[in-house]
Amino acid sequence: MIIKLLFDMELLSDSEHDIKIAAKALAGGALVAFPTETVYGLGADAFNTKALARVFEAKNRPHFDPLIIHIANTETLSLIADIKSLAKPIKEKLNILTKRLWPGPLTLVLPKKAEIPDLATSGLPTLAVRFPSHPVAQKLICLAAIPVAAPSANPFGRLSPTRADHVREQLGGRVDFIIDGGRTDIGLESTVLDLTHNIPRILRPGGISQEVIESLIGEVAYALPGEAGASQGEDITSPREVISSPGMLKNHYAPCTPIVIHKSWEMSLIPDAVDEGRLYFSVPDKSQCPADRTRVLSLAGDLQEAAANFFDMLHELDSLGLSLIRAEEAPSNGLGTAINDRLRRASFKAC
Ligand code: TXA
Ligand code: MG
Repeated sequence: MIIKLLFDMELLSDSEHDIKIAAKALAGGALVAFPTETVYGLGADAFNTKALARVFEAKNRPHFDPLIIHIANTETLSLIADIKSLAKPIKEKLNILTKRLWPGPLTLVLPKKAEIPDLATSGLPTLAVRFPSHPVAQKLICLAAIPVAAPSANPFGRLSPTRADHVREQLGGRVDFIIDGGRTDIGLESTVLDLTHNIPRILRPGGISQEVIESLIGEVAYALPGEAGASQGEDITSPREVISSPGMLKNHYAPCTPIVIHKSWEMSLIPDAVDEGRLYFSVPDKSQCPADRTRVLSLAGDLQEAAANFFDMLHELDSLGLSLIRAEEAPSNGLGTAINDRLRRASFKAC
């Protein structure tokens, strides 16, 4: 079923028939927004520089911020990444990671092959690559038979989309097709892991925790905010040289409503105000904010459930026209690290 929304954008279902239409268009240079298990991506043929240029334009994304290339089988990896140039111990770690965590929410930064256009990688000698587990994403990439460059399908610096509606609202007629695959499961972007150093480095915490990665390959380092350019993020026109992964910019993932982060115990001490909303990690205190202005990431305190609800609930609170959102910090382990990372960036500056 195809719903014509605007002259130049079509909403597709996730039926085989519609995915085929999208795949053909994608291979022909169109921009297709599609669901992945993390967030919706804005896909373009990774070899088509015109289509890549449209991705940057549609998102208003600075050209120093490289794209993730999505593939639908592990064999394609060696066609786009220069695996041979990796030292043996890193090759072994790469094998373990791709065997155990792909398909899934893990993006690997590797030396790139020359065939990948510089536009996709912002001129870096490396590329970021991911094999998503979402069946719609896999089918789309398989049928299009190309590696698909896909950033999250939101304007640069804004909340990531976990529903097709978020893409339609935020990018509207700037994309050719949107495939509606329902709400995404994981709800936070992939973890970006740089494998070009002796000790792998997490450039962006995400859907796979540091603990899980370390249990498989041993020590990984963490690019802390303030390190490798992360502290330059106040100004999103910062030069690329100081940004090891531009997703580390301080003011990424921002809603339009300002956010203030609180420790759990602080939340109950602050009196309610009618123009404020609350985002609790877990059980909210009873006396405070009314239900329509309150969201709870996970009543059970489950980090996976909380991550899945995170952008979704921020989108909801952001649509209420509030003057402030007070957000409770998540525990700082597992996926809590990624939730707190997105909270910090969302709180840095409203859009
Ligand atoms: O879950 C996800 O990763 C989603 C879905 C659609 O796959 N995609 C996504 O893409 O979040 P994007 O463009 O919003 O974020 C990609 C991140 C950025 O922080 C970018 O700087 C980093 O990956 N990145 C891309 N190529 C890189 C490279 N060669 N070296 C270091 N960081 C890179
Ligand atoms: Mg993004």
